[in-house]
Amino acid sequence: MDKKVRDLINDQITKEFYSAYLYLDIANYYADKGLDGFAHWYETQAREEQEHAMKFYAYLHDNNEKVKLGAIDAPATSFKSIKAPLSMALKHEQYVTDLINKIYEAADKANDYRTKNFLGWFIEEQCEEEKNAQELVDKMELFGDDKQALYLLDKELGGRAE
Ligand code: FEO
Repeated sequence: MDKKVRDLINDQITKEFYSAYLYLDIANYYADKGLDGFAHWYETQAREEQEHAMKFYAYLHDNNEKVKLGAIDAPATSFKSIKAPLSMALKHEQYVTDLINKIYEAADKANDYRTKNFLGWFIEEQCEEEKNAQELVDKMELFGDDKQALYLLDKELGGRAE
């Protein structure tokens, strides 16, 4: 495998674990606020990010490449409003899309068709991730000031399947 492609995938393992950590921090914030549905949604999201990390991890092993785990940064921890984590999550997913695109670009330059094919799943997944994050921001902008609507939204998010 091309060295740059391998290094970017290694970095991505750490970044996906950081995403998990970021979402767990958001879940933690909402749990403290008594918004258990929001907390459940982000705990589920954190688990999904760990699965993303493990997909990259397995891909390097399957291709007999060395896995090098990096340090995971501490997440943001304080938020100014109930909406703030939702906007942060949307920005974060846009950033992750950019990271995936950069790995794809490197694989393309290296004529690494296998990695390009592998990344196809992540490219589609990022469409879903950004869509979900945007929907939460939109819903909060529409209903967030109405306490009853916030209660119902919390209930809805609590129903997210694993
Ligand atoms: Fe691993 Fe939310 O993208």
